[in-house]
Amino acid sequence: MNLSTRINALHESPTMKLTARAARMKAEGIDVVAMTAGEPDFDTPEHIKAAAIEAIRRGETKYPKPASGLPALKSAICAALLRNQGLTYRPEQVIVTCGAKLAIQKTLTVLINPGDEVLIPTPYWVSYPELVKLAGGTPVLIESDERRDFKLTPEQVRAAITPRTKAFLYCSPSNPASFTYTPEETRGLVQVLATAGVAIISDEIYDSLTFGGVKPLSPAAVSAEAYARTITINGASKIFAMTGWRVGFAAGPVHVIEAMIKLQSQGTSGVAPFIQLAYAEGLKDDRGEIERMRRDFERRGRHMYDRVKRLPGVTCVEPTGAYYLFPNVSGTFARLRVRDSDEFAERLLNEAHLVVIPGSAFGSDRHIRMSFATSMAQIDAAVDRLEAFLK
Ligand SMILES: Cc1ncc(COP(=O)(O)O)c(C=O)c1O
Repeated sequence: MNLSTRINALHESPTMKLTARAARMKAEGIDVVAMTAGEPDFDTPEHIKAAAIEAIRRGETKYPKPASGLPALKSAICAALLRNQGLTYRPEQVIVTCGAKLAIQKTLTVLINPGDEVLIPTPYWVSYPELVKLAGGTPVLIESDERRDFKLTPEQVRAAITPRTKAFLYCSPSNPASFTYTPEETRGLVQVLATAGVAIISDEIYDSLTFGGVKPLSPAAVSAEAYARTITINGASKIFAMTGWRVGFAAGPVHVIEAMIKLQSQGTSGVAPFIQLAYAEGLKDDRGEIERMRRDFERRGRHMYDRVKRLPGVTCVEPTGAYYLFPNVSGTFARLRVRDSDEFAERLLNEAHLVVIPGSAFGSDRHIRMSFATSMAQIDAAVDRLEAFLK
C-alpha cells in the first residue's frame, strides 16, 4: 500500500526518536545520562491532580461540551492572558486543543494555502517546518546570528517578506536557543510584520519561564493592528509540568478560531473535560508553583551555563528563558574529527553514554541542545561526561 506524498515528506520528530533511544538503552541496563527532555522533571502539582480526580468522580467524563473548550477553562484562559499580558480576549476567541502543538497545527491548517510561505527563524523548534509542510505551505528559514543571541532584527524580517508570505512563527522564550526577546525587540519585529499584513503565530509555551528579570511581551499586546493579526498559543505542558495531559489553546480573531473549531469538530472533538478542569485549576496560579519551578530552572540553567561555557572549543549563549542550553561545539569538530552535530552526538552517545540532541534537528549543525529540566546531580553528571569526552 503506497503512503501519501504528504506523509512521505514529513520527518519523524528527532527529539522524540532520541528520547526513545535513550530509554531503550537504559532498559538494557546501560548507565545513560539523557539531556534530551523537553519536559519538566517536576510532578504535576497535587491540587491540579486533585481537581482532575474530583471531576472524574463528578462524572465529567463525557464528550466536552462544546468541543471548542469548556466555558470554565476558556474564562480561566482569558483571565490569565489579561493578568499576564494585559490582553483582552473573549471566550469565543479561544479554542482549547490537545496541546499547544495541535493548536499550531490547526492554526496553520486554517490559514495556509498551497504556495503560501511561512517565515521560521533558525534555530527553530523541530516541529515548525514539518507542520508548515503538512499544512501545504512552504517553510522559509531566516538565519539568525549567534552573536546577537540568535535574535532576529526587524531588517532581517523585512528582507525575508515576499508577496507570498502568509505567517511568521514567533517563539519567545525560544526552544532550542533559550533566548527571550525584550519588549522593545518584540515591538520592532511585530511592527514590521503587522505593517506587511503578515499573520503572527506566537508560540508562548515557555512565557512564564524566563530568567534574569526579562519579561516577555506578547506580540498581540504590541498594537491593535498586531492584535488583529496574531494567534496566541500556549498550554499547560511546560508551566504546570503537565506534558502528558495534552492540553493547550489558541486565542485570536473570531473568524480564525471559528475555522479551527470547525476543524476540531471533525477531528479530536476536543479535550477530556476532567483535563480541562484541572488546567483551569492550575491557571488560578494561587499557590506559587510556577514561580517555584521557574526559580529552580533558573538556578540549574545558570549552573550548567557556568560550567559548559568553560569547556574547550565550546561557546554558549546564556539562557534567558525555557530550559535548554544550546552550546556551539563546532570548535571541537576538527580535533574530534567529526563533520557535524549528528556525528558529534552519535560519538557522545557511543563513547560517553550521554544523550544530547544534535543541532541539525533545529536547523543548526554547529550546536547541540542539552535540557536542564533535570536534577543538579544529572546536570553535573552530563557536564562531567561532556568534559571527559572533549579532553
Ligand atoms: C516551542 C514549543 N512549542 C510547543 C511545544 C508543544 O507543547 P504541547 O506539549 O502543549 O503540545 C513544545 C514542546 O516541546 C515546544 O518546545
